[in-house]
Amino acid sequence: MTNKPGKLKGYQLAGRKIVMYPDLNFTGRLFGGQLMSWIDEVLAAAAMNLMGTKNIVTKKFGEIVFDAPGLLGDVVEIWYRPVKEGVTSLSMDCRVVVGRGEPSMPEQISSSTVVYVALDDEGLPSPWSKGD
Ligand SMILES: CC(C)(COP(=O)(O)OP(=O)(O)OC[C@H]1O[C@@H](n2cnc3c(N)ncnc32)[C@H](O)[C@@H]1OP(=O)(O)O)[C@@H](O)C(=O)NCCC(=O)NCCS
Repeated sequence: MTNKPGKLKGYQLAGRKIVMYPDLNFTGRLFGGQLMSWIDEVLAAAAMNLMGTKNIVTKKFGEIVFDAPGLLGDVVEIWYRPVKEGVTSLSMDCRVVVGRGEPSMPEQISSSTVVYVALDDEGLPSPWSKGD
């Protein structure tokens, strides 16, 4: 099977998704909103581990670029790298790749930056301390 992207240097794997029919838009490509939802979900789970709390919210979805289409049956891999550890926030760089050719040469289909903020019980920003 060729659909096995290699390790993305400097990044951690947040999660994998398989592109299925309901994920496609009317042109037959992976719907961008669906990909953003997947990114937000798996990066939030990673941020929860890093920030040591589940009480976080997505503060910002930075520029998201769709470099190439996701296609039916693709195994989409979502990778991240923490880029700024703030007092209450954590910024993550995100790369999304699929493997269609050489396993060691995954094709990037999207990139973005996402910022999460830890909250206290009142829903206000709260300093976080490292988890995993
Ligand atoms: C998260 C929320 C409580 C933060 O309120 P706020 O008034 O921005 O709070 P602050 O100004 O204290 O900023 C909190 C952190 O976010 C960062 N931040 C604020 N605006 C930012 C921006 N535009 N870009 C990047 N980081 C930003 C601040 O730098 C700070 O981080 P730091 O403590 O590490 O320096 C509020 O904006 C909110 O509830 N937003 C809705 C969240 C949501 O519903 N998300 C979708 C579903 S999860």
